[in-house]
Amino acid sequence: MVNEMTKALEGVKILDFTHVQSGPTCTQILGWFGADVIKVERPGVGDATRKQLVDKPGADSLYFTMLNHNKRSMELNSKNETGKEVLTRLIKECDVLVENFAPGALDRMGFSWERVHEINPRIIMASIKGFGPGKYEDCKVYENVAQCAGGSASTTGFLDGPPLVTGAQIGDSGTGLHLCLGIVTALFQREKTGVGQRVSVAMQDSVLNLARVKMRDQQRLEAGPLKEYSQFGEGIPFGEATPRAGNDSGGGQPGRILKCKGWETDPNAYTYFIIQAAVWEKVCDLIGEPNWKTDAGFATPPERLDKLNQIFERIEQWTMTKTKFEVMDLCNPLDIPVGPILSMKEIADDEGLYATGTLVKVDHPERGEYISVGCPIKLSASPVDVERSPLLGEHTEEILRDVLKYSDEEIQAISESGAVGEVRKAAE
Ligand code: COA
Repeated sequence: MVNEMTKALEGVKILDFTHVQSGPTCTQILGWFGADVIKVERPGVGDATRKQLVDKPGADSLYFTMLNHNKRSMELNSKNETGKEVLTRLIKECDVLVENFAPGALDRMGFSWERVHEINPRIIMASIKGFGPGKYEDCKVYENVAQCAGGSASTTGFLDGPPLVTGAQIGDSGTGLHLCLGIVTALFQREKTGVGQRVSVAMQDSVLNLARVKMRDQQRLEAGPLKEYSQFGEGIPFGEATPRAGNDSGGGQPGRILKCKGWETDPNAYTYFIIQAAVWEKVCDLIGEPNWKTDAGFATPPERLDKLNQIFERIEQWTMTKTKFEVMDLCNPLDIPVGPILSMKEIADDEGLYATGTLVKVDHPERGEYISVGCPIKLSASPVDVERSPLLGEHTEEILRDVLKYSDEEIQAISESGAVGEVRKAAE
């Protein structure tokens, strides 16, 4: 029997030296899985996102609160001598150190991997950088830089337009997810070896991993045009590199985004529509083109490839007579894969997502209730309770006392040294 209160990573202590988005997404998931995440922040300042994109003056921003659930916050100046001593003790106590400082920052603080490993041979040190070793290794990198350097932007957008970045934060949150997997894998290996290791993930590499199918297409180009791309049917020659493919499907089943009823005024009245070979006949009947089931040039998938524009224009004439939800209701029973283009507003109003914990309402002492995205990974024996993000330094004293076992006198001395800022009691 599994104890209902058990969390998968209970007992694992994380020294969370992350900031902005990429690192915090990783440690947030570790927190959701039950790890004790101790976020170490610069005294008086903290993670810069606390005060970025502010919607409620004086309160921690949604940018911060939505990326830092289930963590404790400790203020610590890691450049102060006493601060370094406290940090050393934290390294001794923790199972994992996670950081996404600019290249070299941790070394400059005096905590290189060699030093960290020497202090605690069992610790896993996990880092995110923009680029891996090589000519760009010293660069500071943000989300969209990674999307561009990882090949995503050059393959996103329409053929006749500029490269596009995507709203999904594949550079930051995508890299955080990769790092998270590296950490739990290293923890698993440590069970057998007893020693820690370094886990490194570059944002460029993570984006490239997620854009893997576009590298597939790069190589397919050598064998001839990419026939499932719209540009093939349009007679536009291919160049040397994987082109932008608009809303074409990235797989073997052609798909497009099509207008639905109300598209003239609603920017999201669209559906994605896939003409999967297995359901082609049903599609033909549905849109009123039964002859296409047997007509030469339409009957088989290869024949259709140079007529995708014509086919999707005809399907769109049909989808424009229905709302995106009606399209879904009519196609789903026929196994025709379609998906409504949902706005963030529609998603925020979706009760079903609250029922599964994918969306959660969280209370915060400074901001009141807000919506957050919960844990997208569901473990049947490790339930997630989404807790609000900590206030800056909310747990400094608690961590000094309970985790690091400093006495009252020592805490007083640490505080007077300027290493932790003003020591605060945890808020109720
Ligand atoms: N106490 C004392 N100093 C601290 C501190 C603490 N608790 N926490 C951070 N600092 C210091 C760092 O040591 C660094 O000092 P240094 O430049 O003298 O070495 C300084 O604060 C700034 O840190 P840095 O990481 O360079 O922040 P930045 O705001 O200049 O750059 C990024 C931000 C995100 C561009 C950079 O951290 C980066 O490239 N990270 C790796 C890639 C990444 O994760 N990017 C995506 C972020 S979403």
